[in-house]
Amino acid sequence: MINAPKGVEDILFPRASYYEEIEKKAGNFFSLYGYKKIMVPTFEKTELFLRSVGQETDVGKQMYTFKDKGGRSISLRPEGTAGIVRAYVEHKIYAKEKNWKVYYAGPMFRYERPQAGRLREFYQIGVECFGEESPWLDVEIIEMAHDFLKGMGLDNIQVQVNSIGCKKCRYKYIEELKVYLGKYLDVLCSTCRRRFRYNPLRILDCKSATCRAVLEKAPRIQDFTCSSCQEHFDKVTGGLCRLKIAHTINPYLVRGLDYYTRTIFEIISSYLGSQDAVCAGGRYDNLVEQLGGPPTPATGFAIGVERLLFSLEKAGVDLSKPAPQGVFMATIGEKSVEEAIQVASIIRSQGIAVKINLTNKGLSSQLKQANRENFSWVLIIGEGEIRKGKFILKNMHSGMQQEIETEEFEVFSNFLKGDASS
Ligand code: HAM
Repeated sequence: MINAPKGVEDILFPRASYYEEIEKKAGNFFSLYGYKKIMVPTFEKTELFLRSVGQETDVGKQMYTFKDKGGRSISLRPEGTAGIVRAYVEHKIYAKEKNWKVYYAGPMFRYERPQAGRLREFYQIGVECFGEESPWLDVEIIEMAHDFLKGMGLDNIQVQVNSIGCKKCRYKYIEELKVYLGKYLDVLCSTCRRRFRYNPLRILDCKSATCRAVLEKAPRIQDFTCSSCQEHFDKVTGGLCRLKIAHTINPYLVRGLDYYTRTIFEIISSYLGSQDAVCAGGRYDNLVEQLGGPPTPATGFAIGVERLLFSLEKAGVDLSKPAPQGVFMATIGEKSVEEAIQVASIIRSQGIAVKINLTNKGLSSQLKQANRENFSWVLIIGEGEIRKGKFILKNMHSGMQQEIETEEFEVFSNFLKGDASS
């Protein structure tokens, strides 16, 4: 019998359908922010990854690289960003679109030491946005990842953010860090002794107790960031506060890819073990130029689908239970039912199914019913809302709610249609 190679998995039914479902939900959600799907190759010239991900990074060293029959060095993609940037430059998208917002999904390949949540072939859903330097984009992108994961039913996530500054300030910091760590080389673990030479920043997120003890008194990047990087980061954290996205500033957070600048972040799920990042990303303002395009700021993230699925299973989210089509309409009182029937006909005319509450149950028991029946969306039509001409649209997974006017149903219809049909 021939078994599958180490570190790869067969994705059988019904699991395969969950991958599809997650991608569809992600696509629908990201499209609310203006992202469009694109597809890029699963293999590229090795040089692309060496120049982006970095030759000396863990990911750079974990690539599946081979010579094709024409003698060219080819690598299976270890991640999605490099290929997307290559496509952006190759198709001169910068000349056509000021902001290019795309998402992608598919397998990535890394020769890792396999363990729970760490595979050699794994799936990512990622987004990239080009052409925007505002810190508000960083905020929006973190919000998008956070709200998507919450909306999927992941209740236990934590956002961690850090800034690794720009080329200039990071260079100064690394010099200082090396001076400090150089004094402790004999106590650092063997991996960190190697990292000291080729990637000292990675020592910051070492989990070994002795390395952690050394790091306690190590210089912090925040003391070296230039004023414009600091201002950028303050706006990012301030924006997250304004959106009430709980986050931790983790000065030890670093990434295993060379291209990042300024904001980096991870979203951690407590259901995962040592490989606890379900999503990770950040800003990479120099990469487009590095790969032959004009200077173009960019930001993005990728979600690990296996880790997301594992966390959802632990959270008790039943992906096999199909969400009913459409919206549950919660009503309070006779007048509200009358209004709901009219609103329902507008929504139905957009092709969205509606279930109206015709009983005199209280709001909380209607919400429980919607939850039991697995509705993702509830439209609350109370008398106060009728007076204002605005209704409350509540996402049952994330708990987020927003006011919506009748005229806005059309705007939401595409999103709701996609969501309700999954
Ligand atoms: P990354 O942190 O290398 O970033 O990977 C993103 C996510 O992919 C991780 O948080 C994790 O959930 C999942 N992942 C990574 N490696 C494995 C593995 N061996 N097995 C299972 N899951 C894994 C990137 O790949 C960047 N391209 C993200 C990005 C996009 N940054 C900017 N734009």
